[in-house]
This record gives sequence, structure tokens and C-alpha cells, in this order.
Amino acid sequence: MNETTRIPSHVAIIMDGNGRWARRRGKERYEGHMAGMDALRATVRNAAEYGVGYLTVYAFSTENWGRPQHEVDALMHLICKGVEMETPALAEQGVRVLILGDKSRFSPEVLDALDRIENRTAQGKRMTLILALNYSSRNEIAAAARKLARKAAAGEIDPDQITEQSFGEALYTAGIPDPDLVIRTSGEYRLSNFLLWQASYAEFYFTDTLWPDFDKAEFDKAMREYASRDRRYGLVKSEPEGQTAPQDGKA
Ligand code: IPE
Ligand code: IPE
Ligand code: MG
Repeated sequence: MNETTRIPSHVAIIMDGNGRWARRRGKERYEGHMAGMDALRATVRNAAEYGVGYLTVYAFSTENWGRPQHEVDALMHLICKGVEMETPALAEQGVRVLILGDKSRFSPEVLDALDRIENRTAQGKRMTLILALNYSSRNEIAAAARKLARKAAAGEIDPDQITEQSFGEALYTAGIPDPDLVIRTSGEYRLSNFLLWQASYAEFYFTDTLWPDFDKAEFDKAMREYASRDRRYGLVKSEPEGQTAPQDGKA
């Protein structure tokens, strides 16, 4: 985090509530996902304006494959279309896009779109937008364990030398700083398999607002709330002058 401005370096968002947003308007769930795309576009701009370095958004979990096929199809279609439509503006804004998750399950068409957006925005220096797609934190951790175990079995590393840092470097998020702030919309208070390792010391911000309604005012509110938090990392905060504990038991 930038201590002078208290702007989080890395904001991660669980964009939840698209389906309920649609239902409340008598619309189909996929229309909620389309509206969610508009909220994402605006949030990318807002985050970049604040000077946030990394914005990670949870867009599709490994568990989401279990939704009705027509919804999964609509989401895959939206990913392809969204990527195609948004790439020029993202590149122009200097936003680099990275995909976080297991790409092996996507169709060739989706894979192609994801590779294209990563390649075409690779030069972006202003902000990194990380799209968590087919992402599962437990999967990621298990994959890291397999990777390190293979290296150990091949004699490339000594198991006793595995540290928090080297383990972190075996995760999909290698090289990306941990999130400072995790936002979840739609009034749900859970992580749903998102960044379990990385969010160890993140601040959490929950709002009842459904993702498609998450606008600039909502983002500002989350940023203000973050700025007011006292991150202690398990340490004792130094006492402000004049407020030290009584010396001899008297106030
Ligand atoms: C989040 O909105 C988007 C995805 C999980 C893809 P939901 O689709 O989960 O919306 P609700 O939670 O059913 O309202
Ligand atoms: C989490 O939302 C995943 C995404 C936002 C992509 P879900 O709607 O899938 O999570 P649960 O089912 O409420 O835990
Ligand atoms: Mg949901």
C-alpha cells in the first residue's frame, strides 16, 4: 500500500449479484451478467484513476461450471465478446490484462480470445487487470504443491527449503503483490474459494449493492473505508502521545 495516500496497491473484487439484479427487474440472468460487464468497465477506469496498481476480478469460478448449461454458454459468449470489444480501450488506457486460473478447460474459441487480450495489452504500464477465470484457490494451492513436489522428486529443490515465499512463487499469482483490499458485493460474506492464500492480511469490504449497481460512488466508498482501516499485521500499534498506559495502575 502507498502509506501517504492510503490507496491500496491491489484491489480484488468478488463481483457477485448479477443474477439477483436481473431477477429483480424481471430479466434473464445473462442480462445481469451483461450489466455486470458495464460495472466492470467503469470500475477499471475508477481504479486506474485512483492509481491502483492491480485490480483482480473474480469473473468465473471452477464451481460456476455447475450452473445450467445455457448460463455457462452465455457467460463464455460474454467473455469472448467482452474481450473483443474492450481490448482497444484497455490497451489505450495502458491496462495490461492477465488471466488467473486454469485455462485448460476453456474451448479453443475462449482460449483464443484470452490469449489475444493478454497479448494485445501486454505493454500496458498504468494498471494490471487480472481476470480470475476458471479460478479456484484450493486448485491453485494444490497445483503449487504438485509443482514443488515434482521438483523435489526430481532433486531440483530440497523440501526443507520450501518457504512461504517459494510456495507463493509456485502459485498462479507469482510476481503479483497480495491484495490489500478484497471487496464483495451483493451482501454475501464469504470468499467462495477466492485468493485464500493471498488474502491472509487483506482488508475486507462487504456491501449489499449488487454488482451491476456498483458505480463510482460505491467504489469511492470502499476506498474511503479502506483508508480508515488500521492494518496491524499482528503487531502492536504505537500509542499516540498523551495516551500511554498508566504507569502504576492509576489513571
Ligand atoms: C456473479 O453473479 C457472476 C458470476 C458468478 C459469474 P451471480 O451470477 O453469482 O449472481 P447471483 O449471486 O446469482 O445474484
Ligand atoms: C463467486 O460467486 C464467484 C464469482 C463472483 C465469479 P458465486 O455466486 O459463484 O459464489 P457463491 O455460490 O455465492 O458462493
Ligand atoms: Mg452469486
